[in-house]
Amino acid sequence: MPDSIDPQRKQWEQTYIDKPGMFGEQPSAAGQAAADLFEQEGVATILELGGGHGRDTLFFARRGFDVTVLDYAVQGVAEIENRARNVGHEDSVNATAHDVRTPLPVADATVDGCFSHMLFCMAMSTPELEALTREVWRVLRPGGWHVYTVRNTSDPHFGVGIHHGEDRYETGGYQVHFFNRQKVEQLVQGFELTAIDEFDEGVLPRRLFRVTLRKPANTAT
Ligand SMILES: C[S@@+](CC[C@H](N)C(=O)[O-])C[C@H]1O[C@@H](n2cnc3c(N)ncnc32)[C@H](O)[C@@H]1O
Repeated sequence: MPDSIDPQRKQWEQTYIDKPGMFGEQPSAAGQAAADLFEQEGVATILELGGGHGRDTLFFARRGFDVTVLDYAVQGVAEIENRARNVGHEDSVNATAHDVRTPLPVADATVDGCFSHMLFCMAMSTPELEALTREVWRVLRPGGWHVYTVRNTSDPHFGVGIHHGEDRYETGGYQVHFFNRQKVEQLVQGFELTAIDEFDEGVLPRRLFRVTLRKPANTAT
């Protein structure tokens, strides 16, 4: 792996080389809740950001959605492609290596639902998150859903380790941007804020918000 690549990206690439199934085979609770909402709201196409090795991606495909998934870890993307092929879902899963700090490789107003689990709390500044939110807005059709989860400031790792500015801390080589409710509200940016749900994940446990936003149906694009 070249030394020149972003240290956090390098960290994630190495993670998926060392532990290809790091997050397990089962879908996340957040992915399951999003699938229920998407099904109820008639969503057919999902854009998943930061899909990792695809625990939620494959679940969405099994539930009958068409999924485009982006992650900057090439190793994770390869893992998703393999898994999709192995279970015969290669036609409904389109996995691409992409850094979400750059414009999303998706046409305007073509996606019904955008989902991301623990991507918005990665190593990104608030201006980068605002730009990403504008990109999610651009690719969603009017009435489309934007569901994301973030580790929040009640998390046991908040304030621990190397401080990288804002509410960003690094422990064990992983940088996390912890969210409070004010940050969630700052990133609403014209969406309708439908819900902020709190939940836990894992043994730490990680403490998270699941944020549900909707692009107003009466928007021009
Ligand atoms: C905490 S993991 C979550 C993975 C997956 N959503 C899950 O829950 O199983 C965050 C993921 O975001 C990816 N990621 C972090 N920053 C990114 C960026 N700027 N662009 C694209 N992917 C990124 C990492 O490679 C990693 O796979």
